[in-house]
Amino acid sequence: MGMPDSSAQKFAGSLNSAMIDGAQARAAQQYADRFGEPGFTDITNAYIDQQYQGYSAENQETWRNLHDRQMDYLQDQASATYLSGAQNINLVRDHIPYLEGPKSINTYLRQLTGWQSKAVPGYLKPHAFFGCLARREFPTTVVIRPKESIDYLPEPDIFHDVFGHVPLHADPTFADFLQTYGKAALATDDPIHTERLARLFWFTVEFGLIKESGRHKLYGSGLISSPGESRHALTSSEVDRRPFDMERVCSTSFEIDHYQPILYVLESFEQLRDAMNSYANRLLDAAKTGESHGCSTSR
Ligand SMILES: [Fe+2]
Repeated sequence: MGMPDSSAQKFAGSLNSAMIDGAQARAAQQYADRFGEPGFTDITNAYIDQQYQGYSAENQETWRNLHDRQMDYLQDQASATYLSGAQNINLVRDHIPYLEGPKSINTYLRQLTGWQSKAVPGYLKPHAFFGCLARREFPTTVVIRPKESIDYLPEPDIFHDVFGHVPLHADPTFADFLQTYGKAALATDDPIHTERLARLFWFTVEFGLIKESGRHKLYGSGLISSPGESRHALTSSEVDRRPFDMERVCSTSFEIDHYQPILYVLESFEQLRDAMNSYANRLLDAAKTGESHGCSTSR
C-alpha cells in the first residue's frame, strides 16, 4: 500500500478499521509519516502485528467470496508466474492469509525469494513505501473490505495487497525487479523521476499484462484482484494494449478513477527486470555525477 491504486478514493473510509486503531498502529503511522527525517530512518518501525484474531467470521467469509469469484477465472487468464506463485505461497480460499507463523505466506516467501509481507497501519508516503521495497519487504494492508462493499475496489485491502500483489514476489525475476525499483526510487529526490517511476509502477505492478503462449495474460495486481477490470482488460475493444517499452511507459500519464484505457504488455519478466536495471544504473550514475536526470524526460 502506498502507491496509487486502482482504488476510487471516493470510497476511502469504507474499510472496517477496528484492527488498525490501536496504540501500536498509531505510533507506527506517525513514524511512517516522518520517515526520512533525522531520527526516522528505520522503516521497520512503521510495521505492526497482523492481530489475526481481529478478523470476524464475516471477514473470513468475505475473503472466501472474493477468492471464489476470481481464482477460477484466473486459472486460464492469469500469468503462469502468478498462478505458480499463488500455489507456492499457499494462498488458499478457506482463510485470510497469515503473514507470520508456521504456515504463513512469509514462511514460504522467505525460502523462495527472501521477500516478506509486512503489516502496516495505513497509507505510506512514497518515500516510506520505496524504503520497504528496497528491503524486499512489501507494506501490506491487513484489513479486509466490508461485505457490503465486495464489488468495489476501494483503497487497498488485504485481498488487493496479498491476493493481488504477493504471489509475484515468489518469482525470483519479479522479486529482483521490485527491489531494484525500490532502490532506484529511494535514490532520487527528483520529482520528474518520481513521477516516471510512479507511471512504471502503475503500468506494470498494478495494471500489467504479459504475453504467454501468444495470448495476453494478467499479472498486475489491480487487474488480478478486480473481477470487472480483469475481464475488461483482456476483452474490451476500447483498451489500447501496447508492447512494453520503458521510455514510453514512463512517459504515459494515467488516471485512477476508471478502467484503464491503455495497458502495456510484457514479453517476459526478464524484459521488465532488465529494463529496470538499466534505468536504475542510469539514475544512480547520474546521482553520482550530479546530473539531475538519468534519462530522457520527454512526455
Ligand atoms: Fe496495489
